[in-house]
Amino acid sequence: MLAGEETAASTLDGIPILGSLGAARRAEVARLCRWRRYHPQEQIIDRQSETREVLFIVQGAVRIVIYSVSGRELTLDDLPAGNFFGEMAAIDGYPRSASVMAVSETVVAGLTGEQFCRLLAEEPDFNATVMRRLVQIVRSATERIIDLSTLGANNRVHAELLRQALQAGVGADGTAELRPIPVHGEMASRVSTTRETVARVMNDLARKNVVKRGRDSLIILDVQHLRDMVEGVRGE
Ligand code: CMP
Repeated sequence: MLAGEETAASTLDGIPILGSLGAARRAEVARLCRWRRYHPQEQIIDRQSETREVLFIVQGAVRIVIYSVSGRELTLDDLPAGNFFGEMAAIDGYPRSASVMAVSETVVAGLTGEQFCRLLAEEPDFNATVMRRLVQIVRSATERIIDLSTLGANNRVHAELLRQALQAGVGADGTAELRPIPVHGEMASRVSTTRETVARVMNDLARKNVVKRGRDSLIILDVQHLRDMVEGVRGE
């Protein structure tokens, strides 16, 4: 048995994309999978490698990343449990388009590319969900291109903070609370800038009373003001 390999296959019932399969088919897929456990920061997929497995995140979370020539890490997406990744190489047969690493203690169930493509051909609802995920990737990549070509680094940090505030939920008083406090290096990786730039922008926002640092959270005091700042430069 390989290091990190799980002995007992558990259930795939918590994976929404497999929800349209009947319970029996899902159990069959679970038996076909190779189950593995990864520690935080451990690499699951190496960009450009020639593997084809598609992985369902049963427990934990992963980060999709690419590295620039200078070694800077760019985050493409963060996926919590219930999601899947690795479908691109399974579909087109080309090398992996990005690297993937575990963010926390993570268990994945891997289906061979062939088995995944068979499911695509046999299960129309499953097929439609995979297509929606691919469309979502294209949409967010388009938004990123727009932000990179139209916004300066400061505004990209504002836009990322706004995205996180909206995801966390805005209260009736117009504030949002981000818990845990966003890590500057991770924000920098998401918007293609440096940690120093993120630190400078956050200090500036704190001075202007747009954000306030709590003991274990970051409070966006005025989400609307942040939205105006972002939409103003985006011309929306
Ligand atoms: P694959 O290319 O097989 O291996 C890396 C995986 O990362 C890829 O399949 C997708 O599942 C995922 N991925 C690649 N690019 C992006 C992106 N821009 N946004 C989200 N996920 C991505």
